[in-house]
Amino acid sequence: MATVADTGLQFTNRPLTSPISADERAAVLANPGFGTKFSEHMVTIEWTEERGWHDAVIGPRGPIALDPACAVLHYAQEIFEGLKAYRHPDGSVALFRPYANAERFNRSARRLAMPELPENVFVESVRRLVEADRDWLPSVEGGSLYLRPFMFASEVFLGVRPAKEYKYIVIASPAGNYFKSGAPAVSIWVSQEYTRAAPGGTGAAKCGGNYAASLVPQAEAIREGHDQVVFLDAVENKWVEELGGMNLYFVFDDGTLLTPPLSGTILAGITRDSLLTLARDEGLTVREERYSLDQWREDAKSGRLVECFACGTAAVVTPVGKVAGHDGEFTIGSGGPGQLTQELKDRLVAIQRGEAPDPHGWVMKLS
Ligand code: PLP
Ligand code: COI
Repeated sequence: MATVADTGLQFTNRPLTSPISADERAAVLANPGFGTKFSEHMVTIEWTEERGWHDAVIGPRGPIALDPACAVLHYAQEIFEGLKAYRHPDGSVALFRPYANAERFNRSARRLAMPELPENVFVESVRRLVEADRDWLPSVEGGSLYLRPFMFASEVFLGVRPAKEYKYIVIASPAGNYFKSGAPAVSIWVSQEYTRAAPGGTGAAKCGGNYAASLVPQAEAIREGHDQVVFLDAVENKWVEELGGMNLYFVFDDGTLLTPPLSGTILAGITRDSLLTLARDEGLTVREERYSLDQWREDAKSGRLVECFACGTAAVVTPVGKVAGHDGEFTIGSGGPGQLTQELKDRLVAIQRGEAPDPHGWVMKLS
């Protein structure tokens, strides 16, 4: 049993007791959708104040028992990550920038007063799960294995203080398109009553509570006939921040791009960062600057703004065609996918899928 370098942590393998049949798996993989189907293994690692990280296991995926007084159920001390494994043309499997997820996981841990997980343990846990479940990579167009590492306070205690026990788990879910509609561009609803994150809050952390708070405005967006909600800043209710699970980019008629800055209230998306680099590689100017809702509307109407897109691991690059709010709606460009949006998406996806060179060393090939 090999230990993860410099950590002394050893993974125990527990075999599957009743593996799924190849036919059943093929039926799942033919139409994976997003987030409803799961692979057969999971990783669990425990943390206690006395022992630190211990009991790393890769074994059959299944329910976990929780005491009703488990701290996470009361005070939401929980964080998570999202990354994908891709099948490459040579049949190998690869992760995309897993160390960036490991780093962000620890930033989230610090904000939520949780223990940090050594980055090599994070990456090793994900690698082991993908190797165990490599048959779960869908071969449908755009398919991947979505990986969800998460950590929560598992101590049985009702006092309000950082817990002294945590559980880290990684599960995997075969994924196709995030958006069910399959529409070429999405329509987004501006939340003017609710905000997602305030300065000094947890907006830059990937913690479950942020998503719980986004559900009412997201439901409002759906009720109003739109796909996603976009949030404005909490101080002036003026500056465009991000969607519930994606960052935003704007493309102007002079070929420049803009994305809201990492002000502490938005998530530092790894897709956002990768696109920033790829766009600059192409010689494009990208500004990380605040952009107001009023300016957005004015630029869309004048034609200065020609494209807009959302980006994230789950959603990849998704064109935004229409924006609506209490003050009416506006269309961006033709209302469909823009050319630069498509070019940047193609560049990114080709690297992730091993169909283009990887000049920035983002791809981590597994076996
Ligand atoms: N913003 C939020 C709130 C998210 O949940 C996500 C998804 O992870 C993103 C942005 C995009 O981040 P990434 O590109 O790292 O997936
Ligand atoms: C991801 O893109 O990985 C996310 O975590 C977003 C979530 C809304 C599915």
